[in-house]
Amino acid sequence: MFTVGILTVSDKGWRGERQDRSGEVIRETISQIDVRIINYDIVPDEKELIAQKLIKWADEDGVDVIITTGGTGLSPRDVTPEATLSVVDRVVPGFAETMRAESLKKTPMAMLSRAVVGARGSCLIINLPGSPKAVRECLEPVIPALSHAVETLKGQASECASAD
Ligand code: MTE
Repeated sequence: MFTVGILTVSDKGWRGERQDRSGEVIRETISQIDVRIINYDIVPDEKELIAQKLIKWADEDGVDVIITTGGTGLSPRDVTPEATLSVVDRVVPGFAETMRAESLKKTPMAMLSRAVVGARGSCLIINLPGSPKAVRECLEPVIPALSHAVETLKGQASECASAD
């Protein structure tokens, strides 16, 4: 079991002008495995606000995996990857590579997401794109590696060879 925080990044969602369906899809999808969702919030597309929230959840609340949705594209307000890169110690490229590779089988638009994944201490931070469809398509393929990633980050994994 590990703990999860869901952070929706959306100006419209933050202003209450759009229901957060993507956050709900993360909740449904991640609940396939043994997790406890302990944090949830919506922030606007502001780099500093996103970074502050990630730091608080990782350092003070001890969240094991933070999953963000939104703000990964090319519009001028999309800054979630920059906020994430400003707080992680190490990038974990395989997660984002997997998400884009699997997503490209569904839509060429997958190449427009600049989502990154990295670790801040023992907390894994995963960016997902903003649409509910994209959330499902990106999150499903990485779920099989999540538990082992968390165990490894926390120094609890004894054998990588037996993980699969
Ligand atoms: N990935 C998947 N799997 N499915 C999608 O529909 N949409 C793309 C891309 N990634 C998409 C996807 C589109 S249209 C955009 S603009 C980018 O994600 C960035 O989305 P965001 O700015 O909402 O984060």
